[in-house]
Amino acid sequence: MERILFELSKEHPSLPMAEALSCLKAEGVDFKVLDAEDSFLEVLSREADLKRIASRLSMTFHVDKLLFSSPPNVEEILSRARRKEINFEGTFRVSCRDRRKKKGNLKSIDVERKLGKVYKKFGRVSLENPDNEIRVLLTDSRWFVGIKIAEVDRSSFENRRAHQRPFFSPISMHPRLARAMVNLSLVKMGERLLDPFCGTGGILIEAGLIGAKILGGDIKKKMVEGCKINLKSFGLNDFEIVLCDVGEIANLFGKVDAIVTDFPYGRATSTNREDLSSLYPRAFEAIADVLRQGRRAVLALPSVDAVKRCSEEMKLVEVHKYEVHKSLTRYISVFVK
Ligand SMILES: C[S@@+](CC[C@H](N)C(=O)[O-])C[C@H]1O[C@@H](n2cnc3c(N)ncnc32)[C@H](O)[C@@H]1O
Repeated sequence: MERILFELSKEHPSLPMAEALSCLKAEGVDFKVLDAEDSFLEVLSREADLKRIASRLSMTFHVDKLLFSSPPNVEEILSRARRKEINFEGTFRVSCRDRRKKKGNLKSIDVERKLGKVYKKFGRVSLENPDNEIRVLLTDSRWFVGIKIAEVDRSSFENRRAHQRPFFSPISMHPRLARAMVNLSLVKMGERLLDPFCGTGGILIEAGLIGAKILGGDIKKKMVEGCKINLKSFGLNDFEIVLCDVGEIANLFGKVDAIVTDFPYGRATSTNREDLSSLYPRAFEAIADVLRQGRRAVLALPSVDAVKRCSEEMKLVEVHKYEVHKSLTRYISVFVK
């Protein structure tokens, strides 16, 4: 086992950490948490499994194999770097990310230069295309030095934003949030994941890209057709997308391994004029019905009251309050059956 560091994005107070822990669990990796703060998660685990995990993540920047950590002090980090022998072949670069609240006079580039000098004896520096990347993370409590195992391809999520897809509707959430929700469901490759309010397919695209078998339903024909077009545009051709009401999912899909969905809220037109106070309870019941025992439903809900009502059907595991904008808050709620 080795010390592994997840450099978390801090784009949300709790989701990046919850997503990283969920990916470790979903992939059945043996791990033990050593330390955690908003900008990092340090675990004991096996390096071999981590490239696969990084390929699922959306709210982490890098996954590194830790060389050492030190108190937040430049002399201390340099002295530890001088004492610690490292093995790598080829060229290297030192990259520093500064996540301290109070930055002080020390700049990331100073840390990169000073550590670069220490590590020069192990290999040649290449800033453009190094064979190895030595990563430094500065936080208020501890500083970390590690070797990059994997980098999360954050730009790929930007390329899948709603307006970049062939079928567009503003109802769709950001792909990074959709991916994080899929990861919270603990779905594994080849397992069946259902989005019963699939809309334009934002959640199903993310689930399909990590290898889940994707199933979707929506009450609007336009959405069902548009969802299929969007899935195909990302090379996802193996899916079952059906024009249906949420109440019909048990008959149409049978049991599923995970449910991830963004509930309709606000506009009555989107629900064929059904009141949310009638739609929500029957949706919660239908979702609990199709989910396999012991498996998870990850639901984006518009209120604490909705979270409470759903807790009558399934056991609440965790909730992440997510402010989309000033007048729209979603409660990303994880339930287990
Ligand atoms: C918030 S949107 C989902 C957005 C989706 N995640 C996306 O990426 O586009 C909710 C969807 O629920 C659908 N819907 C509303 N009432 C429904 C019902 N009774 N059964 C199934 N779908 C319904 C709407 O047509 C809408 O597409």
